[in-house]
Parts: sequence; structure tokens; C-alpha cells
Amino acid sequence: MKLTGRHFLKLMDYTPEEILYLIDLAAKLKQEKKQGVSQLAKLQGKNIALIFEKTSTRTRCSFEVAAHDLGMHTTYLAPSASQIGKKESIADTARVLGRMFDGIEYRGFEQEIVEELAKYAGVPVWNGLTNEFHPTQMLADMLTIQEHLGRLKGVKLVYMGDARYNMGNSLMVTCAKLGMHFTACTSKNYFPEAELVSYCEKLAKETGGTVTLSEDVETAAKGADVIYTDVWVSMGEPEEVWEERIQELLPYQVNQRVMELAGEQAVFMHCLPAYHDLKTEVGRKVYEKFGIAELEVTDEVFEGSRSVVFDEAENRMHTIKAVMLATLGES
Ligand code: CP
Ligand code: NVA
Repeated sequence: MKLTGRHFLKLMDYTPEEILYLIDLAAKLKQEKKQGVSQLAKLQGKNIALIFEKTSTRTRCSFEVAAHDLGMHTTYLAPSASQIGKKESIADTARVLGRMFDGIEYRGFEQEIVEELAKYAGVPVWNGLTNEFHPTQMLADMLTIQEHLGRLKGVKLVYMGDARYNMGNSLMVTCAKLGMHFTACTSKNYFPEAELVSYCEKLAKETGGTVTLSEDVETAAKGADVIYTDVWVSMGEPEEVWEERIQELLPYQVNQRVMELAGEQAVFMHCLPAYHDLKTEVGRKVYEKFGIAELEVTDEVFEGSRSVVFDEAENRMHTIKAVMLATLGES
């Protein structure tokens, strides 16, 4: 499988075989690292730029650690620390960075921006999250499901909460690509866009998967292998939307009842960060205003034995390493 020189912008651009190849490569790199085998020679001396127009813990650390493991150097451009978009267009920025770096990671707002960057950079560009998609998270999630359930094809994944943003969209696409059964279980105002749904339905027909939209928790959660959720208010959205999100999405909170409906085989997943207690500033503010201490997931589920969220977080690093190696390496 040759992916050298390719961008990694969204999973719609990749075939199921290519996606599975990247997951397998990540599993190998993970094993290698655990065995203490040096990976420094693999991309020794290359340089990558990490552009973050939104904040990050996992994605930034994953790119940095993975790059260093592979022998590369990193330059981090923090939110508002560069000229991008303010004093210099995306196309100009891309052509400048493309002259200095071997690869560019971009986290920011519209998908159009990362696509534009890729068009002009002349080197591989990796999407570290946009409003619409979070493709590196998908590889980590699939590796985690594979590790815990031993398979991907046929797995029933139920996504609860805000399904019309990066995580809902990306999970629907990924499940459709890999022959999995995806359900968006939420209020109809938070279903993914109709056009993307119909794209995924068509795709799922070819792969043996299914796409379901449901407002009913009882029927949707029943028999799920994976219960997945994400924050109700994403980065870049105004604080004022909390009120309507709580009203509309509280019925879709992942709690013990949902896990019981799913059954003993079900694992709980979340891309993180998560609001499951009052140990965050935002969590406390929401509690003071609305009196709700646990938001998209209860502390009991988050801390429970079926929660695999920290495996997921670790797998961000191994899968991002695989993406960089496959797109920058020789084979
Ligand atoms: N899941 C994820 O992308 O986390 P960060 O925002 O911390 O990078
Ligand atoms: N939907 C979240 C995902 C964070 C990893 C956001 O965009 O903030």
C-alpha cells in the first residue's frame, strides 16, 4: 500500500483498504514502541509544522511525541500566534510553509481551510480537526474498537448527542466505510446533514453497513457494541448555546441506564475532553447556571469498567504516527 505524498483531510478521500492499512500500521508501531524498538531512523531529520487555531491536548501531544519518536522536528504555531488568515491568506501561508516543512498539521475552523492549505502546500497536510471532520480521531477510535471487540465489520456503534458536528459526521463516514452499523441517537435538530447521510447510506450499502437516525434511546441503544458521545458545545461555538443544548440533548446523556440498555458487551467511548464532573471551569460554570453537574456522560459511566476512553487517547499517538509515516515515508 503506497500512501506517500497523500494528504489526510477526511476519511471520504480514503478507501476502506487504505483505512484498514493505517489502523494495522498503527497497531504495529504501537507494539514496536512497547517493545522498546527505536523508530528514530524512520523519518530522521524531517520537519513538520503544527498549526493550531483551536486549543488541544491530545492531538498536539500526539503529533509531537509521534514526530519525535520518528526522528522528526516539530514547530508549533499556537492559536493566534501566526499571520494565518489575518495578515496572510491560506494559499500564501501554504506556499511558505511548504518550502520549509515536509508535512503540515492543521487544526481549525472550516474544512475548506484545510483543503485550501493542502491545495497549495506541495507537501502532505493532515487534518487535526475542523468543524466538519476529525479524521485522525477516527483511526484511534477504530484501533481501540478493534483491540476491545476484536473486529470492526458488523460492529454496532451508537453516537449520542450533537451528531451534526465533527465527531458525529466523522463516525458516520468511518462506520459506513468499514461496514459497521452507525446510529445517530439524538434530537432531530442534531442529526447530521441530509447530504452527508445519503452519501453514507449509499456507501454502507456497498460495505454491508447501515446508517440509522433515531430519536428513541430505548430502541437505538439496545444491543449496541459501542456507545459514543462528545461534548454538546464544541470549540468555537458561543457560550449562549449551552441552554438550548442542555434542553435538547439531556435526554441523550450517556448514563448507566443507557449502558444497561446496550448490554454487557458494550464499551463506552468519548474523544475527550469530557464534562463528567465539576473538576473543570466550564463544568462548574454550567452547574452554577443550570444546576447540572454531569453533562454528556455521567461520572459513573466515564469512570466505569466499560469505559475505554484512555485507551482511545493513547491510540491517538500511535495512529497519528502511522499517518505521518505512511504519507512521508517511502512505503
Ligand atoms: N480528542 C481530541 O482531539 O482532543 P484534543 O482537543 O485535546 O486534541
Ligand atoms: N466536537 C469537539 C471535539 C473535540 C475533540 C470540538 O470540536 O470541540
